[in-house]
Amino acid sequence: MKEKILVTGGTGYIGSHTSVELISDGFDVVIIDNLCNSEAIVVERIEQITGKRPRLNIFDICDKGKLDRFFEENSDIAAIIHFAAFKAVGESVYKPLDYYRNNLVSLIYLLDAMKKYNIPNMVFSSSCTVYGQPEKLPVTEESPIQPAVSPYGNTKQIGEEIIRDTAVANQNIKAIALRYFNPIGAHPSALIGELPRGIPENLVPFITQTAFGLREELRVFGDDYDTPDGSCIRDYLHVVDLAKAHVIAVKRLIEGGSKKNYEVFNLGTGEGVSVLEAIKSFERVTGIKLKYKITGRREGDIEKIWADPSYANKELGWKTVSTLDESMRTAWKWEKYIRSISQ
Ligand code: UD1
Repeated sequence: MKEKILVTGGTGYIGSHTSVELISDGFDVVIIDNLCNSEAIVVERIEQITGKRPRLNIFDICDKGKLDRFFEENSDIAAIIHFAAFKAVGESVYKPLDYYRNNLVSLIYLLDAMKKYNIPNMVFSSSCTVYGQPEKLPVTEESPIQPAVSPYGNTKQIGEEIIRDTAVANQNIKAIALRYFNPIGAHPSALIGELPRGIPENLVPFITQTAFGLREELRVFGDDYDTPDGSCIRDYLHVVDLAKAHVIAVKRLIEGGSKKNYEVFNLGTGEGVSVLEAIKSFERVTGIKLKYKITGRREGDIEKIWADPSYANKELGWKTVSTLDESMRTAWKWEKYIRSISQ
């Protein structure tokens, strides 16, 4: 068995896929999750896929007493992958303090624990949201950071700064921030996937729920953007590809391959896809005609963004392999699975 890795938010969407990839690579995975946006049953599904059930510790990282007790018993952790956070952009605008408290207090407590218990490595879940609307595309890691448009986005920017300053001040702490573009799709087994509570904010869960008949129709937020078909452009990557990047990042930290104490990588496919193209891909792979209508723009939306992933390609030896069609196929398989067991 390889090293013990703490995955915070390990029952969530990206956390569960990463736990699967870590276990499949031989790592010993221990999860902390307060289940505020996920289900405990996810660890059973991870076991179904990998043959090994990760240990799930159910508590909030903002509870310092419980966190300390956890590390007293687990001071042999080799790296932390920190996913646990709130992520709804719209909600963050009217609940800013909840977002700052939950996303930043938890991070500070984890970094405190890294110092106290000599845990040397952290991988941080960041986002392309830090680039705002970039002037030049595609975006590299050197592209300027723009003022955040939402408290959620600000927690990612401030989170990166807190980690960078901590790694500079403590040479025995190393960290990698991974800036995700738009993760979509589900594990090919369809046993784990994205399960938004209530009405989905993100495009692909809204598409699959509409196709399943749970939503009346999809609203395409604007077709008057300065893009070839007028709808917004994003870089959609398959969640399993994204999960694999975390395993590589953890190994890079553990094996001492980092160039600096604090590194940042863009994780995307390098290809921009419009909302209308995403819909076409879904229709192509499922044979379903999706009900949608063009509506006004969504406030705070970025017109177009896609990654230059060449630094991650070169330094991490990581590259996305799944196509957009494959992502849509697995997202649909997952939607059907989850509805079949919840009825
Ligand atoms: C944004 C952030 C991302 C963050 C994520 C969390 C940017 C560039 N991205 O993703 O970093 O992690 O929120 O939720 O800031 N759309 C529709 N109809 C819908 C839903 C979405 O047309 O019902 C369109 C949006 O206008 C957008 C695209 O689909 O063009 C993707 O939207 P979404 O899935 O919400 O992700 P982002 O807003 O890109």
